[in-house]
Amino acid sequence: MKTIFDPVSLGKLRLKNRLIRSATWEALADEDGHMSEELFAQYERLAAGGVGAIITGFTSVADDDHYFEGMARLSRDELIPEHQRLTKLIHAHDCPVIVQLALGEYNGAHRNMTIDSMSAADIAAVRGSFIAAAVRAEKSGCDGVQIHAAHGFFLSRFISPAYNHRTDEYGGSAENRARLIVEILRGIKASAPSLHVTMKINGSDFIRGGLTPDDCAAVCALCARSGLDSVEISGNGTSVPGIRAGVNEAYFRGLAAPLARQLSIPVILVGGHRSIDCMERLLNETQIEFLSLSRPLVREPALPARWKSCDRAPSRCVSCNACYSTPGHRCIFSR
Ligand SMILES: Cc1cc2nc3c(=O)[nH]c(=O)nc-3n(C[C@H](O)[C@H](O)[C@H](O)COP(=O)(O)O)c2cc1C
Repeated sequence: MKTIFDPVSLGKLRLKNRLIRSATWEALADEDGHMSEELFAQYERLAAGGVGAIITGFTSVADDDHYFEGMARLSRDELIPEHQRLTKLIHAHDCPVIVQLALGEYNGAHRNMTIDSMSAADIAAVRGSFIAAAVRAEKSGCDGVQIHAAHGFFLSRFISPAYNHRTDEYGGSAENRARLIVEILRGIKASAPSLHVTMKINGSDFIRGGLTPDDCAAVCALCARSGLDSVEISGNGTSVPGIRAGVNEAYFRGLAAPLARQLSIPVILVGGHRSIDCMERLLNETQIEFLSLSRPLVREPALPARWKSCDRAPSRCVSCNACYSTPGHRCIFSR
């Protein structure tokens, strides 16, 4: 019988439980990607709150990527000491750190470039920036990186037939659309071999002509064969509002459960986990091994510790999504 508090291995990483903080953008870095004191304070609270591992908010691999405000960055060596400080403070709570590496938009020589109009050199530049950022993550002492290929970010669009209509080796079949991610993955494995490499991907884009569950399965299988260590399953429309314990939890379960059966690597499921009962049923009825949470930890950074202390009441998050618009993405109900 599996429980959320089983000490478990995620690849080479040892986690004190199966709960993972899913990437949550805090909007607390400046234009250049320098982190604020408030950002460090948020991570201190999270790490002290007992979660098994932390995936950081999206961290851009490029200086000229302004897809969202306040993104942290790992696009320059001078940012390494700040990431070292972050890693150290999280490690002090026996909690591994996985940096979510993301590219929102690619601004090459021509802004507003589409995936279809990118040259081979543009694609190589994206590949290089992910690999270089991962090397910086390794130098910062991080335990892993997550390739952000979900939620309409650049790599999510690149693998999606709704955006990628290329006719070369990077377009067409799922294998071709996944080629850039596979190249990034292999590059990271070669250049930063100590890192756990995971990926966040849409189980479905939920748009006409977009990534389907079959496409997602094909991309994940290719990545698993190329060294991916685990995968986190999400979907577009990621933060579904109005989630209630025992009513509509774990809303991407139907996408993740078949993948967990098929894939040789651990599957992490995000989206709408609010009660221990629902999570433990998932662990025992499917082959999903890890559960990741975002809004519940915005509401209560110490939720894992509360649950462990025998107060098993569901998360107090009401899934209102107001946290998306508060300074530091704090919960409007938290004091
Ligand atoms: C304020 C906020 C910021 C988020 N930032 C990120 C992010 O940086 N990267 C990411 O992949 N998902 C991000 N998400 C989505 C969450 O990781 C998660 O997939 C989604 O909210 C569903 O999980 P939940 O029900 O536990 O909140 C964010 C969600 C919120 C509410």
